Amino acid sequence: MSSDTELLRGKLGEVLERSRARSIALTDCLDEDELVAQHSRLMSPLVWDLAHIGNQEELWLVRDVGGREPVRSDIDELYDAFKHARANRPALPLLTPKEARSYVGTVRDKVFDVLDRSPLRGRRIEQDGFAFAMIAQHEQQHDETMLATHQLRSGPAVLDAPPPPAAGVQVAGEVVVEAGEFMMGTSTDPWALDNEKPAHGVHVPAFAIDAAPVTNERYLAFIDDGGYERPELWSERGWAHRQEAQLTAPQFWEQDPNGRWWRRKFGVMTPLRPAQPVVHVCFYEAEAYARWVGRRLPTEAEWEKAARFDPETGAARRFPWGDDEPTAVRANLGQQHLEPADVGAYPSGASAAGVHQLIGDVWEWTSSGFEPYPGFEVFPYAEYSQVFFGGDYRILRGGSFGTDPVACRGTFRNWDHPIRRQIFSGFRCARDLSEDELR
Ligand code: AVJ
Ligand code: FE
Repeated sequence: MSSDTELLRGKLGEVLERSRARSIALTDCLDEDELVAQHSRLMSPLVWDLAHIGNQEELWLVRDVGGREPVRSDIDELYDAFKHARANRPALPLLTPKEARSYVGTVRDKVFDVLDRSPLRGRRIEQDGFAFAMIAQHEQQHDETMLATHQLRSGPAVLDAPPPPAAGVQVAGEVVVEAGEFMMGTSTDPWALDNEKPAHGVHVPAFAIDAAPVTNERYLAFIDDGGYERPELWSERGWAHRQEAQLTAPQFWEQDPNGRWWRRKFGVMTPLRPAQPVVHVCFYEAEAYARWVGRRLPTEAEWEKAARFDPETGAARRFPWGDDEPTAVRANLGQQHLEPADVGAYPSGASAAGVHQLIGDVWEWTSSGFEPYPGFEVFPYAEYSQVFFGGDYRILRGGSFGTDPVACRGTFRNWDHPIRRQIFSGFRCARDLSEDELR
Protein backbone atom coordinates (compact mmCIF):
# COMPACT_ATOMS: atom_id res chain seq x y z
CA MET A 1 0.00 0.00 0.00
CA SER A 2 1.31 3.44 -0.82
CA SER A 3 1.63 5.99 1.95
CA ASP A 4 -0.92 8.19 0.11
CA THR A 5 -3.48 5.45 0.53
CA GLU A 6 -2.66 5.16 4.21
CA LEU A 7 -2.96 8.93 4.66
CA LEU A 8 -6.36 8.79 2.99
CA ARG A 9 -7.41 5.89 5.23
CA GLY A 10 -6.41 7.91 8.28
CA LYS A 11 -8.33 10.94 7.05
CA LEU A 12 -11.46 8.86 6.41
CA GLY A 13 -11.20 7.45 9.93
CA GLU A 14 -10.99 10.99 11.28
CA VAL A 15 -14.04 12.30 9.43
CA LEU A 16 -16.04 9.25 10.53
CA GLU A 17 -14.97 9.74 14.17
CA ARG A 18 -15.76 13.45 14.02
CA SER A 19 -19.27 12.87 12.73
CA ARG A 20 -19.93 10.22 15.38
CA ALA A 21 -18.64 12.40 18.20
CA ARG A 22 -21.10 15.06 17.07
CA SER A 23 -24.07 12.67 16.79
CA ILE A 24 -23.34 11.41 20.30
CA ALA A 25 -22.96 14.94 21.69
CA LEU A 26 -26.30 15.98 20.16
CA THR A 27 -28.13 13.02 21.70
CA ASP A 28 -26.33 12.37 25.01
CA CYS A 29 -27.35 15.79 26.35
CA LEU A 30 -31.07 14.91 26.36
CA ASP A 31 -33.03 12.39 28.39
CA GLU A 32 -35.01 9.49 26.87
CA ASP A 33 -38.28 11.41 26.72
CA GLU A 34 -36.72 14.22 24.76
CA LEU A 35 -35.01 11.83 22.35
CA VAL A 36 -38.25 10.10 21.42
CA ALA A 37 -40.40 13.25 21.48
CA GLN A 38 -41.64 15.13 18.45
CA HIS A 39 -40.32 18.64 18.94
CA SER A 40 -41.88 19.77 15.65
CA ARG A 41 -43.95 18.05 12.98
CA LEU A 42 -41.27 19.17 10.53
CA MET A 43 -38.63 17.08 12.26
CA SER A 44 -37.98 13.47 13.21
CA PRO A 45 -37.51 12.41 16.81
CA LEU A 46 -33.76 12.61 17.44
CA VAL A 47 -33.65 8.88 18.08
CA TRP A 48 -34.91 8.29 14.53
CA ASP A 49 -32.06 10.36 13.07
CA LEU A 50 -29.55 8.44 15.16
CA ALA A 51 -30.67 4.98 14.06
CA HIS A 52 -31.18 6.20 10.45
CA ILE A 53 -27.54 7.34 10.43
CA GLY A 54 -26.52 3.83 11.48
CA ASN A 55 -28.83 2.15 8.98
CA GLN A 56 -27.52 4.18 6.05
CA GLU A 57 -23.99 3.33 7.16
CA GLU A 58 -24.90 -0.35 7.38
CA LEU A 59 -26.46 -0.35 3.90
CA TRP A 60 -23.50 1.24 2.15
CA LEU A 61 -20.41 0.39 4.16
CA VAL A 62 -21.21 -2.94 5.86
CA ARG A 63 -23.35 -4.58 3.16
CA ASP A 64 -22.36 -2.91 -0.13
CA VAL A 65 -18.68 -2.01 0.25
CA GLY A 66 -17.90 -4.63 2.90
CA GLY A 67 -20.00 -7.40 1.38
CA ARG A 68 -20.91 -8.49 4.92
CA GLU A 69 -24.04 -10.00 6.38
CA PRO A 70 -26.71 -7.51 7.56
CA VAL A 71 -26.52 -6.36 11.17
CA ARG A 72 -30.29 -5.75 11.31
CA SER A 73 -32.13 -6.25 8.03
CA ASP A 74 -35.44 -6.08 9.92
CA ILE A 75 -35.24 -2.34 10.50
CA ASP A 76 -34.43 -1.10 6.97
CA GLU A 77 -38.04 -0.16 6.34
CA LEU A 78 -38.38 1.83 9.59
CA TYR A 79 -35.42 4.01 8.74
CA ASP A 80 -36.13 4.48 5.04
CA ALA A 81 -36.86 8.22 4.79
CA PHE A 82 -39.18 7.63 1.83
CA LYS A 83 -41.41 5.15 3.66
CA HIS A 84 -42.51 7.36 6.54
CA ALA A 85 -43.05 11.14 6.63
CA ARG A 86 -41.24 12.95 9.43
CA ALA A 87 -44.52 13.75 11.19
CA ASN A 88 -45.36 10.03 11.45
CA ARG A 89 -42.01 8.80 12.70
CA PRO A 90 -42.67 9.18 16.46
CA ALA A 91 -45.49 6.60 16.21
CA LEU A 92 -43.26 3.92 14.65
CA PRO A 93 -41.88 1.00 16.69
CA LEU A 94 -38.44 2.65 16.70
CA LEU A 95 -35.35 1.37 18.44
CA THR A 96 -35.14 2.85 21.93
CA PRO A 97 -32.31 5.33 22.58
CA LYS A 98 -30.31 2.55 24.23
CA GLU A 99 -30.88 0.17 21.31
CA ALA A 100 -30.11 2.88 18.77
CA ARG A 101 -26.80 3.71 20.48
CA SER A 102 -25.83 0.08 20.59
CA TYR A 103 -26.86 -0.42 16.93
CA VAL A 104 -24.80 2.51 15.58
CA GLY A 105 -21.84 1.31 17.66
CA THR A 106 -22.03 -2.24 16.30
CA VAL A 107 -22.25 -0.95 12.73
CA ARG A 108 -19.33 1.40 13.28
CA ASP A 109 -17.08 -1.35 14.65
CA LYS A 110 -17.65 -3.35 11.47
CA VAL A 111 -17.10 -0.27 9.34
CA PHE A 112 -13.65 0.32 10.80
CA ASP A 113 -12.79 -3.23 9.86
CA VAL A 114 -14.14 -2.67 6.32
CA LEU A 115 -12.15 0.57 6.09
CA ASP A 116 -8.98 -1.26 7.15
CA ARG A 117 -9.40 -3.74 4.31
CA SER A 118 -10.62 -1.49 1.51
CA PRO A 119 -8.07 -0.80 -1.24
CA LEU A 120 -9.75 2.65 -1.55
CA ARG A 121 -9.66 2.15 -5.30
CA GLY A 122 -10.88 -0.34 -7.88
CA ARG A 123 -14.66 -0.27 -7.59
CA ARG A 124 -15.91 3.20 -8.38
CA ILE A 125 -17.70 3.51 -5.05
CA GLU A 126 -14.46 2.81 -3.17
CA GLN A 127 -12.29 5.05 -5.34
CA ASP A 128 -10.61 7.69 -3.18
CA GLY A 129 -12.70 6.47 -0.26
CA PHE A 130 -15.87 7.97 -1.74
CA ALA A 131 -18.34 5.65 0.04
CA PHE A 132 -16.82 6.37 3.46
CA ALA A 133 -16.80 10.11 2.79
CA MET A 134 -20.38 9.96 1.50
CA ILE A 135 -21.48 8.29 4.74
CA ALA A 136 -19.59 10.83 6.88
CA GLN A 137 -21.32 13.61 4.92
CA HIS A 138 -24.68 11.90 5.40
CA GLU A 139 -24.14 11.70 9.16
CA GLN A 140 -23.08 15.35 9.30
CA GLN A 141 -26.14 16.41 7.29
CA HIS A 142 -28.35 14.64 9.82
CA ASP A 143 -26.35 16.20 12.64
CA GLU A 144 -27.20 19.62 11.21
CA THR A 145 -30.84 18.55 11.02
CA MET A 146 -30.61 17.40 14.65
CA LEU A 147 -29.14 20.78 15.54
CA ALA A 148 -32.19 22.41 13.92
CA THR A 149 -34.37 20.13 16.07
CA HIS A 150 -32.48 21.36 19.14
CA GLN A 151 -33.29 24.93 18.09
CA LEU A 152 -37.00 24.01 17.86
CA ARG A 153 -37.25 22.27 21.21
CA SER A 154 -38.44 24.22 24.23
CA GLY A 155 -37.00 23.91 27.70
CA PRO A 156 -33.69 24.82 29.23
CA ALA A 157 -30.58 25.09 27.08
CA VAL A 158 -28.42 21.99 26.80
CA LEU A 159 -25.93 23.07 24.14
CA ASP A 160 -23.05 25.42 24.65
CA ALA A 161 -20.23 26.84 22.53
CA PRO A 162 -18.01 29.93 22.62
CA PRO A 163 -19.20 33.01 20.69
CA PRO A 164 -17.94 33.40 17.12
CA PRO A 165 -15.06 35.79 16.41
CA ALA A 166 -15.79 39.53 16.29
CA ALA A 167 -15.67 41.53 13.07
CA GLY A 168 -12.09 42.24 12.00
CA VAL A 169 -12.91 44.43 9.03
CA GLN A 170 -15.75 46.59 7.74
CA VAL A 171 -17.60 44.90 4.91
CA ALA A 172 -20.33 46.74 3.04
CA GLY A 173 -21.73 47.32 -0.40
CA GLU A 174 -21.50 45.04 -3.39
CA VAL A 175 -18.95 43.44 -5.65
CA VAL A 176 -19.15 43.44 -9.44
CA VAL A 177 -18.42 40.18 -11.27
CA GLU A 178 -17.62 40.67 -14.96
CA ALA A 179 -19.49 38.76 -17.66
CA GLY A 180 -17.86 35.60 -18.91
CA GLU A 181 -17.59 31.87 -18.99
CA PHE A 182 -17.22 30.05 -15.68
CA MET A 183 -16.71 26.34 -14.94
CA MET A 184 -19.52 25.45 -12.58
CA GLY A 185 -19.59 22.21 -10.59
CA THR A 186 -16.79 19.68 -10.40
CA SER A 187 -15.51 16.57 -12.15
CA THR A 188 -12.41 16.18 -10.01
CA ASP A 189 -13.42 16.61 -6.38
CA PRO A 190 -13.26 12.98 -5.16
CA TRP A 191 -15.86 13.41 -2.41
CA ALA A 192 -18.31 15.60 -4.32
CA LEU A 193 -21.84 14.18 -4.41
CA ASP A 194 -23.58 13.34 -7.69
CA ASN A 195 -25.55 16.60 -8.05
CA GLU A 196 -22.33 18.69 -7.98
CA LYS A 197 -21.08 16.94 -11.13
CA PRO A 198 -19.93 17.29 -13.84
CA ALA A 199 -17.98 20.53 -14.26
CA HIS A 200 -19.56 22.45 -17.14
CA GLY A 201 -19.09 25.85 -18.72
CA VAL A 202 -21.74 28.45 -17.95
CA HIS A 203 -21.86 31.93 -19.43
CA VAL A 204 -22.78 34.29 -16.59
CA PRO A 205 -23.71 37.86 -17.59
CA ALA A 206 -22.17 40.65 -15.49
CA PHE A 207 -23.83 41.07 -12.10
CA ALA A 208 -23.29 42.69 -8.72
CA ILE A 209 -23.61 40.74 -5.48
CA ASP A 210 -23.61 41.84 -1.84
CA ALA A 211 -20.16 41.62 -0.26
CA ALA A 212 -21.79 40.09 2.85
CA PRO A 213 -25.00 38.36 3.87
CA VAL A 214 -27.96 40.57 4.84
CA THR A 215 -27.73 41.43 8.55
CA ASN A 216 -30.32 41.58 11.32
CA GLU A 217 -30.02 45.37 11.29
CA ARG A 218 -30.89 45.61 7.60
CA TYR A 219 -33.64 43.04 7.93
CA LEU A 220 -35.11 44.97 10.86
CA ALA A 221 -35.23 48.10 8.66
CA PHE A 222 -37.34 46.07 6.20
CA ILE A 223 -39.71 45.06 9.02
CA ASP A 224 -39.89 48.64 10.34
CA ASP A 225 -40.69 49.90 6.84
CA GLY A 226 -43.74 47.64 6.76
CA GLY A 227 -42.10 44.91 4.71
CA TYR A 228 -44.47 42.25 6.02
CA GLU A 229 -47.55 44.40 5.30
CA ARG A 230 -46.86 45.31 1.67
CA PRO A 231 -48.01 42.67 -0.83
CA GLU A 232 -46.29 44.49 -3.69
CA LEU A 233 -42.93 43.42 -2.24
CA TRP A 234 -43.85 39.74 -2.25
CA SER A 235 -44.32 37.24 -5.02
CA GLU A 236 -47.86 35.92 -5.34
CA ARG A 237 -47.00 32.60 -3.70
CA GLY A 238 -44.86 34.40 -1.16
CA TRP A 239 -47.67 36.69 -0.09
CA ALA A 240 -50.13 33.80 0.12
CA HIS A 241 -47.71 32.01 2.42
CA ARG A 242 -47.03 35.15 4.46
CA GLN A 243 -50.78 35.44 5.03
CA GLU A 244 -51.41 31.82 5.77
CA ALA A 245 -48.45 31.35 8.10
CA GLN A 246 -48.93 34.86 9.54
CA LEU A 247 -45.29 35.72 9.15
CA THR A 248 -44.25 38.97 10.81
CA ALA A 249 -40.53 38.45 11.50
CA PRO A 250 -37.89 35.71 11.14
CA GLN A 251 -38.56 32.55 13.13
CA PHE A 252 -37.43 32.74 16.78
CA TRP A 253 -37.55 36.57 16.89
CA GLU A 254 -39.54 38.17 19.70
CA GLN A 255 -40.24 41.82 20.44
CA ASP A 256 -40.55 42.89 24.09
CA PRO A 257 -43.07 45.52 25.32
CA ASN A 258 -40.38 48.20 24.95
CA GLY A 259 -40.07 47.41 21.27
CA ARG A 260 -36.70 45.76 21.67
CA TRP A 261 -36.05 42.63 19.55
CA TRP A 262 -34.70 39.39 20.95
CA ARG A 263 -33.77 36.11 19.35
CA ARG A 264 -34.23 32.68 20.93
CA LYS A 265 -31.08 30.72 20.32
CA PHE A 266 -31.02 27.10 21.50
CA GLY A 267 -33.13 27.91 24.53
CA VAL A 268 -31.47 31.22 25.42
CA MET A 269 -33.03 34.64 24.75
CA THR A 270 -30.41 37.03 23.40
CA PRO A 271 -30.70 40.64 22.20
CA LEU A 272 -30.67 40.80 18.43
CA ARG A 273 -27.11 41.38 17.19
CA PRO A 274 -27.29 44.09 14.50
CA ALA A 275 -24.24 42.99 12.49
CA GLN A 276 -25.08 39.28 12.49
CA PRO A 277 -26.42 37.70 9.29
CA VAL A 278 -30.17 37.17 9.57
CA VAL A 279 -31.03 33.49 10.03
CA HIS A 280 -34.27 31.44 9.95
CA VAL A 281 -35.93 33.21 7.05
CA CYS A 282 -37.74 31.37 4.27
CA PHE A 283 -37.15 31.91 0.56
CA TYR A 284 -40.22 34.15 0.28
CA GLU A 285 -39.01 36.47 3.02
CA ALA A 286 -35.62 36.72 1.32
CA GLU A 287 -37.33 37.48 -1.99
CA ALA A 288 -39.47 40.24 -0.45
CA TYR A 289 -36.49 41.84 1.27
CA ALA A 290 -34.57 41.84 -2.01
CA ARG A 291 -37.44 43.54 -3.80
CA TRP A 292 -37.64 46.11 -1.01
CA VAL A 293 -34.01 47.13 -1.66
CA GLY A 294 -34.61 47.12 -5.43
CA ARG A 295 -32.57 43.98 -5.91
CA ARG A 296 -33.08 40.21 -6.33
CA LEU A 297 -31.62 36.97 -5.07
CA PRO A 298 -28.57 35.64 -6.92
CA THR A 299 -28.93 32.65 -9.19
CA GLU A 300 -27.07 29.55 -8.17
CA ALA A 301 -24.51 30.11 -10.98
CA GLU A 302 -23.93 33.69 -9.82
CA TRP A 303 -23.41 32.58 -6.24
CA GLU A 304 -20.92 29.92 -7.28
CA LYS A 305 -19.04 32.24 -9.62
CA ALA A 306 -18.77 34.91 -6.90
CA ALA A 307 -17.42 32.20 -4.60
CA ARG A 308 -15.07 30.23 -6.85
CA PHE A 309 -14.01 32.20 -9.92
CA ASP A 310 -10.49 33.57 -9.89
CA PRO A 311 -10.27 36.28 -12.58
CA GLU A 312 -6.46 36.08 -12.60
CA THR A 313 -6.27 32.46 -13.61
CA GLY A 314 -9.77 31.99 -14.99
CA ALA A 315 -9.97 28.81 -12.89
CA ALA A 316 -12.55 27.83 -10.28
CA ARG A 317 -11.33 27.34 -6.71
CA ARG A 318 -12.62 24.66 -4.39
CA PHE A 319 -13.41 27.26 -1.71
CA PRO A 320 -13.62 31.09 -1.91
CA TRP A 321 -10.10 31.48 -0.46
CA GLY A 322 -8.48 28.77 -2.56
CA ASP A 323 -8.20 24.99 -2.51
CA ASP A 324 -7.14 24.55 1.13
CA GLU A 325 -9.52 22.97 3.60
CA PRO A 326 -11.58 25.30 5.83
CA THR A 327 -10.03 26.41 9.13
CA ALA A 328 -11.41 28.35 12.10
CA VAL A 329 -10.10 31.65 10.67
CA ARG A 330 -11.59 31.11 7.22
CA ALA A 331 -15.17 30.17 8.01
CA ASN A 332 -17.76 29.59 10.72
CA LEU A 333 -18.50 25.90 10.20
CA GLY A 334 -18.88 22.69 12.19
CA GLN A 335 -20.96 23.88 15.16
CA GLN A 336 -17.87 25.48 16.69
CA HIS A 337 -20.23 28.32 17.54
CA LEU A 338 -24.00 28.25 17.91
CA GLU A 339 -24.74 31.27 15.74
CA PRO A 340 -23.57 33.14 12.65
CA ALA A 341 -20.61 35.51 13.12
CA ASP A 342 -20.97 39.26 12.61
CA VAL A 343 -20.27 40.49 9.10
CA GLY A 344 -16.53 41.14 8.74
CA ALA A 345 -15.43 38.30 11.04
CA TYR A 346 -13.69 36.24 8.33
CA PRO A 347 -11.56 38.54 6.15
CA SER A 348 -9.26 35.63 5.23
CA GLY A 349 -12.23 33.65 3.96
CA ALA A 350 -13.14 36.16 1.23
CA SER A 351 -13.28 35.07 -2.41
CA ALA A 352 -11.04 36.35 -5.21
CA ALA A 353 -13.86 38.72 -6.15
CA GLY A 354 -13.86 40.11 -2.58
CA VAL A 355 -17.10 38.52 -1.38
CA HIS A 356 -17.19 37.62 2.32
CA GLN A 357 -18.70 34.82 4.40
CA LEU A 358 -19.92 32.75 1.47
CA ILE A 359 -18.94 29.56 3.27
CA GLY A 360 -20.35 29.03 6.76
CA ASP A 361 -22.52 31.28 8.97
CA VAL A 362 -25.84 30.87 7.10
CA TRP A 363 -27.11 28.85 4.15
CA GLU A 364 -27.94 31.34 1.42
CA TRP A 365 -31.13 31.16 -0.60
CA THR A 366 -30.70 31.47 -4.36
CA SER A 367 -33.41 32.02 -6.97
CA SER A 368 -32.65 28.69 -8.68
CA GLY A 369 -34.64 25.49 -8.51
CA PHE A 370 -32.97 22.10 -8.02
CA GLU A 371 -32.08 20.76 -11.48
CA PRO A 372 -29.42 18.34 -12.71
CA TYR A 373 -26.33 19.74 -14.39
CA PRO A 374 -25.89 18.79 -18.06
CA GLY A 375 -24.35 15.31 -18.09
CA PHE A 376 -25.64 14.42 -14.61
CA GLU A 377 -25.33 10.77 -13.66
CA VAL A 378 -26.95 9.13 -10.61
CA PHE A 379 -24.27 8.00 -8.18
CA PRO A 380 -24.60 5.89 -6.20
CA TYR A 381 -28.37 6.11 -5.54
CA ALA A 382 -31.27 8.05 -7.06
CA GLU A 383 -32.82 8.97 -3.71
CA TYR A 384 -30.05 11.37 -2.80
CA SER A 385 -30.61 13.89 -5.62
CA GLN A 386 -32.45 12.66 -8.66
CA VAL A 387 -35.87 12.12 -7.12
CA PHE A 388 -35.87 15.78 -6.00
CA PHE A 389 -34.97 17.36 -9.35
CA GLY A 390 -37.72 19.60 -10.69
CA GLY A 391 -39.59 19.60 -7.37
CA ASP A 392 -40.77 22.63 -5.43
CA TYR A 393 -37.35 23.48 -4.04
CA ARG A 394 -34.89 26.35 -4.07
CA ILE A 395 -31.15 25.90 -3.91
CA LEU A 396 -29.25 27.05 -0.85
CA ARG A 397 -25.47 27.51 -0.95
CA GLY A 398 -22.49 27.90 1.29
CA GLY A 399 -23.30 26.01 4.50
CA SER A 400 -24.07 27.38 7.95
CA PHE A 401 -22.39 27.48 11.36
CA GLY A 402 -23.97 24.05 11.80
CA THR A 403 -22.46 22.47 8.66
CA ASP A 404 -19.35 20.35 9.02
CA PRO A 405 -16.48 21.12 6.63
CA VAL A 406 -16.72 17.62 5.11
CA ALA A 407 -20.24 18.44 3.91
CA CYS A 408 -19.41 21.90 2.59
CA ARG A 409 -17.47 23.29 -0.39
CA GLY A 410 -17.89 25.83 -3.17
CA THR A 411 -19.73 23.31 -5.33
CA PHE A 412 -22.01 21.86 -2.62
CA ARG A 413 -25.74 22.13 -3.37
CA ASN A 414 -28.45 22.09 -0.72
CA TRP A 415 -32.16 22.48 -1.43
CA ASP A 416 -35.39 22.91 0.49
CA HIS A 417 -38.99 24.00 0.04
CA PRO A 418 -39.34 27.78 -0.30
CA ILE A 419 -41.45 27.99 2.90
CA ARG A 420 -38.88 26.31 5.14
CA ARG A 421 -37.10 28.34 7.79
CA GLN A 422 -36.26 26.00 10.64
CA ILE A 423 -33.00 25.44 8.74
CA PHE A 424 -30.10 27.87 9.29
CA SER A 425 -31.02 29.96 6.27
CA GLY A 426 -30.19 33.53 5.38
CA PHE A 427 -29.36 35.25 2.10
CA ARG A 428 -27.58 38.02 0.25
CA CYS A 429 -28.86 40.11 -2.68
CA ALA A 430 -27.68 40.63 -6.23
CA ARG A 431 -28.64 42.72 -9.24
CA ASP A 432 -28.12 43.01 -12.98
CA LEU A 433 -25.80 45.80 -14.08
CA SER A 434 -27.38 48.71 -15.92
CA GLU A 435 -26.40 49.50 -19.53
CA ASP A 436 -24.40 52.48 -18.24
CA GLU A 437 -22.43 50.36 -15.84
CA LEU A 438 -21.73 47.81 -18.57
CA ARG A 439 -20.51 50.62 -20.87
C1 AVJ B 1 -29.31 17.61 1.08
C2 AVJ B 1 -29.93 18.40 3.24
C3 AVJ B 1 -31.55 18.30 1.47
O1 AVJ B 1 -31.49 16.29 4.75
O2 AVJ B 1 -32.99 16.18 3.20
C4 AVJ B 1 -29.96 13.28 4.29
C5 AVJ B 1 -29.59 15.40 2.91
N1 AVJ B 1 -30.31 13.09 2.17
N2 AVJ B 1 -30.35 12.02 4.04
C6 AVJ B 1 -31.81 16.22 3.57
C7 AVJ B 1 -29.94 13.95 3.13
C8 AVJ B 1 -30.56 11.89 2.76
C9 AVJ B 1 -30.76 16.22 2.47
N3 AVJ B 1 -30.39 17.63 2.08
FE1 FE C 1 -30.69 10.51 5.48
